[in-house]
Amino acid sequence: MDKFIVLGEKKLKGIISVSGSKNAGLPIMAASLLADGHYILKNVPDIIDIRTMAKLLRILGAKVEFENHELKINTENCSYYEAPYDLVKTMRASIYVLGPLLARFGKAKVSFPGGCALGARPINLHLQGLQKLGANIEIEHGYIYATAKKLNGTEVIFEKKSVGATTNILMASVLVDGITILRNVACEPEINSLANFLNKMGAKIEGIGTDCLTISGVKNLHPADVTLIPDRIETGTLLLAAAITKGNINVKNCCPMDLGIVLEKLKEIGFSIETENDSIKISGKAKNPIEISTNPYPAFPTDLQAPFAALLSTVKGISIIDENIFSDRFMYISELQRLGADIKLDKNRIVIHGGTKLTGAPLMASDIRAAAALVIAALASEGKTEISRVYHLDRGYERLESKLAQLGADIERIED
Ligand code: EPU
Repeated sequence: MDKFIVLGEKKLKGIISVSGSKNAGLPIMAASLLADGHYILKNVPDIIDIRTMAKLLRILGAKVEFENHELKINTENCSYYEAPYDLVKTMRASIYVLGPLLARFGKAKVSFPGGCALGARPINLHLQGLQKLGANIEIEHGYIYATAKKLNGTEVIFEKKSVGATTNILMASVLVDGITILRNVACEPEINSLANFLNKMGAKIEGIGTDCLTISGVKNLHPADVTLIPDRIETGTLLLAAAITKGNINVKNCCPMDLGIVLEKLKEIGFSIETENDSIKISGKAKNPIEISTNPYPAFPTDLQAPFAALLSTVKGISIIDENIFSDRFMYISELQRLGADIKLDKNRIVIHGGTKLTGAPLMASDIRAAAALVIAALASEGKTEISRVYHLDRGYERLESKLAQLGADIERIED
């Protein structure tokens, strides 16, 4: 298991490119199960979660090759419809094969994902949506058995906005008989990219980018190729890494439009942000503490909650963050406290008394974004910080340490 050794207090400077989006790539890979044939996905990040989804597609009978950020998928011989526990337990997004398998084979057997490091993560909205389309769902021995002779167009009103439930039900509805209307859907850029990809495969989805999608079912889909959108969370992470070191960097190949509120918050803290079509420059210093409330897109993303907490622990004054998406996404706090951060947790709110001096210490990562927060905090800490369990980081970031080192950080990966 690898570790990072970080020697902090080095200003980041320079130009860096963002990788393709993990959370856009995973559902698109699952969508390839909807039609037989050859797919080429470009700009695919070389990260563990993408490799896990590739493994799952292989188990289902697909041929998958992954080289130079290009993923070739051949789904001509897919005939298996079971997503086993061993894979689903390592990555919850494995549940994304449920909708496509059901739509294609009329049956699917997918391990029930359990709890995770972010708190309870139910899948009731996925299952209710599929039932509304006409599927029969049974849970036995830890598996979801979904079957349907025929799926029919219907109206699904999601009780709350869910990226995963929107993804699954959207993929299940493209091949049904009739028209499906999905209301209160998640509008994250990754959902839009999936919907655009499905349309490229021959689906008829209208309302992309809004919270209501209308899907006119089609009889068949065909394979399509796609270049993944830039990863907005990696973009935010790199900006925060520069911000905490009072650095000056230019993040290229990103999509500033997808980061609206995040850039606003950085400006509110006092940083200077300049955007062009596909790049963001950050410079300047922190001046003001701020308040953040995580909510579905276009509001502030929960995936940048922990990385922002790291930055705010170095900003003088009292900052407040309310986490409204996940019930327990605060496991990183005790680690930041080990560096000297003054953060108090009260239910879903953290109060940060910023500006305390951070000093290096041994730390342990608990999930992808918690790991990113620890790396960011380490960059501003005096002396040496050792971060273990960086495999969490490797699930979602492609060689983050190399990108940071390229910008002047003193960060090294070592084998434990
Ligand atoms: N929820 C339910 N029932 C459901 C589904 C969700 O109550 O059936 C609740 C969740 O418990 C949560 C809220 O709805 O409170 C939103 O969850 P959502 O379904 O939107 O999250 P997700 O699909 O499980 C995706 C991303 C997460 C990201 C969230 C929120 C992927 C593969 N995962 O998860 O990304 O935090 O949306 O934006 O796209 C990450 O990349 O590190 C990550 C965790």
